[in-house]
Formats: sequence, structure tokens, C-alpha cells
Amino acid sequence: MSILIKGGQVVSSSGATPADLIVDGETIAAVLDPASDLAHSAAASSAKIIDASGCYVVPGGVDVHTHLQLPMSPEATSSDSFESGTAAAAWGGTTTIIDFAGQMQGFQVRDVIEERLAEAQGQCAIDYGFHLSMGDINEDSLGEMKNVVDEGISSFKFFMAYPGANYSDDGQLLQAMQRAGGLGALSMMHAENGIAIDVLRDQAVKRGDIDPVWHGRTRPARLEAEAVHRAGALAEVAEAPLYIVHLTSVEALEQVAWARDAGQNVFAETCPQYLYLSFEEHLDQTGQAGLRHICSPPLRPASTHDHLWKGLRINDLAVVSTDHCPFCDAEKRLGIDDFRPTPNGLGSLEHRMDLIYQGVVAGELSLARWVDTCSTTPARLFGMYPRKGVLAPGADADIVIYDPAVQHTLGVATHHMNVDHSVWEGMEVTGQVRTVLSRGSVVLDNRVYQGRAGHGQFLARSLSDVLI
Ligand code: URP
Ligand code: ZN
Ligand code: ZN
Repeated sequence: MSILIKGGQVVSSSGATPADLIVDGETIAAVLDPASDLAHSAAASSAKIIDASGCYVVPGGVDVHTHLQLPMSPEATSSDSFESGTAAAAWGGTTTIIDFAGQMQGFQVRDVIEERLAEAQGQCAIDYGFHLSMGDINEDSLGEMKNVVDEGISSFKFFMAYPGANYSDDGQLLQAMQRAGGLGALSMMHAENGIAIDVLRDQAVKRGDIDPVWHGRTRPARLEAEAVHRAGALAEVAEAPLYIVHLTSVEALEQVAWARDAGQNVFAETCPQYLYLSFEEHLDQTGQAGLRHICSPPLRPASTHDHLWKGLRINDLAVVSTDHCPFCDAEKRLGIDDFRPTPNGLGSLEHRMDLIYQGVVAGELSLARWVDTCSTTPARLFGMYPRKGVLAPGADADIVIYDPAVQHTLGVATHHMNVDHSVWEGMEVTGQVRTVLSRGSVVLDNRVYQGRAGHGQFLARSLSDVLI
């Protein structure tokens, strides 16, 4: 069935222009000048016409960092399932996610991948892929990396944090990066000095400093920056490209800029929570309010926000992902008497496109950069371009019609994420997703949900396009 999307401004990573789109089946057949004869004849021949007048037409959002139904501890699993999380993503204009298959210490890579693929199978409303997070780097897991890349999992997350769970030492990291680099895969790093952080955490609790704010105070920016620098050094020696996940601080950003200025293939993402929420206003609250804002790395002072927006403008920050990892209040309360067992993470998957569009409204980012950081560059870095991240003939028809005039308020009463509170409660935003297509199927039609679990397919990804 062909669909004509007419009357909108098509936005790409290089700007906006009036254009009409023809969708044929699962892909985009043509991008047309609205004044052309072809555009006029398409109006007569298309089975369905979507009027995008007054709206932006943008490539579906690509969120390369989510944690759906992640068992963070025996007591706490992140509250969005593959079904609820991907539906919420679609509501917010995200049509591709990359989640994680997580290998913990003592587990086999093959087993965790099979298990994760089975969990997602038939559940997702939008297309999805996986990174492999490697919490046990050894001869077996290093040996398995080639097979993993061959089956379309072309990026690996390593951890300098979480000793006793996912942590790897520098020797393990170097070997894993050498292997990833040799395979053309991307090494992703959770960059915090976990050994030092665990000492600070235990010292704090011993003193009786058990409130949520101590989660942040015991994970100082200096220990994020140190880890980013060390990761960059290891990547350079390993001759591997490097992607820093969930970057939060000015100090860490300086290290990314320094490596990039030296010509290294180092990239970084930040997340909406680090652009809007702060240590002093949100984390430094007692009880449940503070616990809701515990994530790692932690929220930083509000004075950081301007620096991160600038980083996005000048491409020292290449991507905005969410690190979506929500927990309901009952799970967050595990840390009520001691911040340490609080499951880390919060929920933003549905709101990423809106929240970063507020940067356009506020003059922090261009429209092109909005699309670039939320769709095009993540698709390129993670081996999905030009199938994803662009509106061009042959690309998947993952299309968002975005109404820049609608004003709405974020919060638990209206969101579709499966979490019983919202760290975005009461935030007023301008601009809203109106209609969403995923591989040519209408998932959201004028804000009526038409998606279904099982429409989303596993994306076997190619190698990263890191020379960007
Ligand atoms: O607090 C966070 N970021 N939770 C998710 C796990 C991770 O390290 O990304
Ligand atoms: Zn992480
Ligand atoms: Zn994460």
C-alpha cells in the first residue's frame, strides 16, 4: 500500500525543506518537491494521504541506550517490558531502540544473547537491536565476540564501574577493545572509577551518610573524567574507536574534547536527565523524592547543563540517548535506609524527542542537530544507516510527523511508560509527536495508538560508520 505524506517540512541532519514523501510497503519510495508533477500525480494514486501541513517530518528517533526488563538485582527489575517500553517509545517518536544483552560475571555470552533475543521476540512495537555488555572478559567471551558481531550485535559495552558485578580491570578492557577494534566493532564504556567510588560509598555509609544525595557525592565528576581519560588512552593503544555512554559532567566532556582534538575516534552520548535535572534540585532531596533521581553517573549541578548543550552543538557530544531504566517507587525504596541498594536508573524513553526539541525552542540546537543527535548519528555510529536515521529513497519508512505548535505537560497521568512516577512531572513542553510510521505501518495515527507487539523486528546491525 502506498502512502503519501504531504505538506510538511522534511528535516534531515543538514536542514529542513518542504517535501512530500511516498511510502511504498516498508520503505520510502520517493522524496518529492511538492511543486513537481510527480507530487501532484501521487496525490491521485496513493492509497492513503497524511496531511503534514504545519508539521516537521523527521526520521524516526533512534535511541541506542535502553534497559527494558533489566534485572538490576534479585529484588529489582526495570519496570518497562519490551512491550510497554517500545510502545512508549513509539508514542514519543522513537522507532528504533538498541537495548543490551548483559553478561554478568560467571555467565556465558551465548546463553545471555539467546535469552535476551527470546525475551524480546514477538514483544516489540518498533525495531530493536542489542549491544552486548560484557561483565566477564575472559578467553571464552573474547573468543565469542566475532560470532556476536557476525549475528548483528556490532557494539560492546564495558564497565569501569560496578566492581563485583560488571567491572573489568584495565588489562581486560585493553584486550576487549583490541578485539572489538580488530572486528570493526564499537567499544562503549561506562566510564566511572568504580574501585574508588566503592571506597567512598562505604566510607559514607559507615559515617551514617545514607541519604540519596550521598549517591551523587560519592561518585564525583573527577572520577568520571579520570575514567573517560583512561578509556581514551586504552582505546588509543588498542587502536579501537570508543563511545562513552551517559556522559554527565564538564570534566568528563573536557576529556572527550581533548581526545577528539587529538584526532582520536572518540564519541560520546549524553541523556535528557543530564541536560535538565540537577544534583541540587532533584537528587538532594530526602526519602523517595531523592531516590527517584538516583542514576549512575549521578545528576550533576545545574551549571553543567549549558556545557552539555554546547557539547551537543559542536559535536563533542554526538548522540542523545535515554539510558531508560525506570523503577517503580517500591523498588526505589530499597534504598530508603541506605542509598546503596537503590536500583540505579530513571525513565525518559517516551520523552527524548520532545525534551531535545525544547533545545530547538530555546535556541540551544538547530533543527538539523536535533535530528542528527537523536536519529541520524546514532544510526550511523551503530551500523543502521542508511536503513535508519534518514528519510531517503530505500530507507525504512520510519517517519515521525511532529507538530511544533502543540503545548503539553509531561507526567504520570499522560505518559505510557510503565512506571508509577515521572521525573519529568509537570514539565511544560512545546511540540509533540502527532503520527508515527514504523517500516511503513502506522503505529501512532494523530495520537491514536495503532501499534502492536510483534511488529518490531530484530535488527542485525552492520559495522559502525565511525569516520563521521
Ligand atoms: O543508572 C543507570 N545508568 N542505570 C542503568 C545502568 C547503566 O549503567 O547504564
Ligand atoms: Zn552504564
Ligand atoms: Zn545504561
